[in-house]
Amino acid sequence: MPDVEAKYKAVRSMTQSLAATLSAEDQMVQSCPEASPIKWHQAHTTWFFETFILRPFLPDYRPFREDFHRLFNSYYISLGEEIPQKKLRASFSRPSLDEVLAFRDHVDHAMERLFASTIDGEVSRRIVLGLNHEQQHQELVLTDIKHAFFSNPIHPVYGSPDTPQTPPFSVPSLEWREFSGALVEIGRSPNFEDPFDFCFDNETPRHRVLLEPFEFANRKVTCREYLEFMADDGYIRSELWLSDGWDAVQESRWEAPLYWERDASEETGWRMFTLRGWQGISGLLDVPVCHVSFYEADAFARWRGCRLPTEAEWESVASQLPQHGNFLDTGRLHPSRVTESGVTQMFGDCWEWTSSPYTGYPGYKRPPGALGEYNGKFMVNQMILRGGSCVTPADHVRATYRNFFPPAMRWQFTGIRLAI
Ligand SMILES: [Fe+2]
Repeated sequence: MPDVEAKYKAVRSMTQSLAATLSAEDQMVQSCPEASPIKWHQAHTTWFFETFILRPFLPDYRPFREDFHRLFNSYYISLGEEIPQKKLRASFSRPSLDEVLAFRDHVDHAMERLFASTIDGEVSRRIVLGLNHEQQHQELVLTDIKHAFFSNPIHPVYGSPDTPQTPPFSVPSLEWREFSGALVEIGRSPNFEDPFDFCFDNETPRHRVLLEPFEFANRKVTCREYLEFMADDGYIRSELWLSDGWDAVQESRWEAPLYWERDASEETGWRMFTLRGWQGISGLLDVPVCHVSFYEADAFARWRGCRLPTEAEWESVASQLPQHGNFLDTGRLHPSRVTESGVTQMFGDCWEWTSSPYTGYPGYKRPPGALGEYNGKFMVNQMILRGGSCVTPADHVRATYRNFFPPAMRWQFTGIRLAI
């Protein structure tokens, strides 16, 4: 069995390394309602261990600061009143970054004392949950700082500039793989005796789904293909859009994916802001299109005479494939071109919107207590995404993993897979 303590140290130090190049000022910015300051991510992930592990299970534990219990609660209503996001955003100069880092040290030292004692199965399961929670926030650190730097008029760069991929190669053409109808099983039924046999409660229980025959695209939709949709007036043809999607296009004046800006000096007329700075779209034509909403993915699919896959179709395909891809661990911080044949890019690069609404699986029950608030209460008005992205830690996702966001969200690394 993997060592819980070693895993704890690895995940905690990864968070700090992601924030290492960011100044205290960078870490207090919250540039859109759905993002959070990086300093808050560092504190909130630490709060999770203090609240759910150290307070209940380390007998002589002394909290770092009693008011942090309320300040860094995200949405656990059963633990007390939360801080309104607006107030947090406007006033997050204090506690200072130094104090937040001292909070992290305080909790890490207390966790060392906990690891030195005998840990039972429940404590181990909670620690592994806390580590998976922190990995979710690692992805948010990168998506939120990308939005913060994009929103800053001088457009700071997070990572060093990209080195061109050489030699040039072409991506496989968009092809279809046929799958026959079948009664398949999706979801997980983990072994609760093994804390590392981890999955979130929303992946349970494993259950049967009847699939009709379907065809599945061999790769994700590229920027080149998305430019064709834009050039064919995709953003101004209401017949392509769901009603709510069309409202979003009108209200937000969308005319391209998030982070795309017009650039007359570019062959395509567009450039894209990445974690490694601005890049011309002409150099990225064969990489997956990214930072599109569910509404845009759905409209693109309708324009192509296709549809988005259901999450059951997606999982039935993905569960047959090896789990490798362009995750955070590659260090690219951006989707990359596919080189393989067959069904590819199911994992990494960018999350794939599905046509499935986020609801509980048949027989799903929320866990008891505050941890039952982790997933279950969000099961309305959101769509399922699958597969992970270029800023997801590689050991965080799996074929059964269910991500979920409201259909208008674009600040995550979200892209398109087609089905028929
Ligand atoms: Fe959280």
